[in-house]
Amino acid sequence: MAILVTGGTGFIGSHTVVELLNAGKEVIIVDNFSNSKPVVLDRIEKITGKRCKLIEADLLDYDKIENIFKENKIESCIHFAGLKAVGESVAIPLRYYHNNITGTLNLLDIMSKYGAKKIVFSSSATVYGKPKSVPIREDADLYTTNPYGETKLMIERILSDLYNSDKEWSVSILRYFNPIGAHESGLIGEDPKGIPNNLLPYIAKVAIGALPCLSVFGNDYNTHDGTGVRDYIHVVDLAIAHLHALERAEKVTGVEHFNIGTGVGYSVLDIVHAYEEAIGEKINYKIVDRRPGDIDECYADPTRAKELLGWQATRGIKEMCRDSANWQKNNPNGYDS
Ligand code: UD1
Repeated sequence: MAILVTGGTGFIGSHTVVELLNAGKEVIIVDNFSNSKPVVLDRIEKITGKRCKLIEADLLDYDKIENIFKENKIESCIHFAGLKAVGESVAIPLRYYHNNITGTLNLLDIMSKYGAKKIVFSSSATVYGKPKSVPIREDADLYTTNPYGETKLMIERILSDLYNSDKEWSVSILRYFNPIGAHESGLIGEDPKGIPNNLLPYIAKVAIGALPCLSVFGNDYNTHDGTGVRDYIHVVDLAIAHLHALERAEKVTGVEHFNIGTGVGYSVLDIVHAYEEAIGEKINYKIVDRRPGDIDECYADPTRAKELLGWQATRGIKEMCRDSANWQKNNPNGYDS
């Protein structure tokens, strides 16, 4: 029986596939390569010594996805596929709703039809909006501030309704905090298109001289040094959380939500300094105005994941910066290097 991984060649997907293959699981990736490349499969093979099946397909193509279920014995799915850029989602909301929601509806309908009723869904801490207090627990208020976040929250609600209608489902909703780092082999990592929006990929480009200077968005937040605080989590720790979630889904039915973070918040300047230490060089940065929509601080209370999944992050900020820098150094142009 196979595990279908949608978006399995993306940043988090590829790291999760490595962990699944290393654990001896049978994996089928479905990806439309809208934000990734087929060469990722070669890299995964280099790391694991295993080549899994990869099917190029879009979740919007119902018939093609149904064929995958017809032709393979699939028992569960880890669902990563989706558009994920906040700013872009504000500019083209209909595309985000159509792609993320309709694609998921297709997938769930087909999974139901073929009796594959176990799913791990990649949600985000973005569903907490501007949290009232930190650390954030899973029962905190939910609201979103942009269409991307809204699609995550809508899918969470769709999954709950689905379970309420059919109690055979096992649904594990993982709310990721800020995934960074890369596989320690330096063979897979984050490869954003164009100029990165997120902090770590931006720092990594400044470090290799591909971008001149990091703009630190505001130093007047209510945090220890005035810069924004986030819960950065090593992508390999995050990937491993999916294996724990799958294991649990094999044992229990229901809908469960888990924060996947370290529980520790670091500021933008903490990260800059940790990165400087990792590479032994200075990072050029300047303080600029706040980025609209940003919040002071956001970090997880990851207790539930520890108690119910038996999972907790083991890699610290040092490993995150080291592995991120190693990936960037080995692949200055990402997978085109
Ligand atoms: C962002 C998204 C979030 C998404 C997550 C994925 C927004 C508002 N939120 O989170 O929905 O789930 O990415 O990883 O976009 N920063 C700088 N300079 C930069 C880039 C970032 O100072 O060039 C600062 C930000 O102000 C923030 C921190 O670094 O304090 C982290 O930013 P980022 O990596 O973009 O993640 P989030 O905004 O937390």
